[in-house]
Amino acid sequence: MRQTEKAHIFLKEILRYGDHAIDATAGNGHDTKFLAEQVGSLGHVYAFDLQKESINECTRIIKDVGFLERVTFFQNCHSELAKKLSGKIDLKIKAVTFNLGYLPGGDKNLTTQPHTTLLALKQAYEIVDPDGKISVIAYRGHPGGRKEFENVENHINKMNWKFKKSSNRNDCDSPVLFLISKN
Ligand SMILES: C[S@@+](CC[C@H](N)C(=O)[O-])C[C@H]1O[C@@H](n2cnc3c(N)ncnc32)[C@H](O)[C@@H]1O
Repeated sequence: MRQTEKAHIFLKEILRYGDHAIDATAGNGHDTKFLAEQVGSLGHVYAFDLQKESINECTRIIKDVGFLERVTFFQNCHSELAKKLSGKIDLKIKAVTFNLGYLPGGDKNLTTQPHTTLLALKQAYEIVDPDGKISVIAYRGHPGGRKEFENVENHINKMNWKFKKSSNRNDCDSPVLFLISKN
């Protein structure tokens, strides 16, 4: 099973109709669409991506399925998520997803960065509900990817967060999925 599918199964355990969720790396919109399906018409998804290309593609996908009114897009770094959602802090954010790396089909040099990823992950953990969940897929095969993966893993360990980790292959370049539960 793909890491993205495993992440969805994990987040589905907590997400209910009317909930709120964050896609920290909207990309081509697959995860945003998944979250928007789970939260339904009374819920809301906040989708972040730095690239205009991603926001455009994600918007197109979400529009196609008729979910535009339940998604807010931010063309901002995910390290700004606390700031961007500060007026909405009483919202029950139940799930946050990170699918790190570069936009498939896009510029492979525009990847998530270890420093801002960590800032965003810390904020996500603060923002998410006490029983909320966070998924992170870290790719180790591209330049900078290994450092980003190590930063994420070290931080999770240092903070003693409850988590499960999996990779589909034994080689050291395969993507790693972190499933973090706040409670
Ligand atoms: C692997 S893709 C995400 C795939 C996406 N979740 C999907 O379902 O198609 C990674 C995305 O992270 C975005 N990204 C890179 N740096 C970012 C940052 N600092 N803040 C938010 N998004 C960022 C990239 O532009 C890219 O679209």
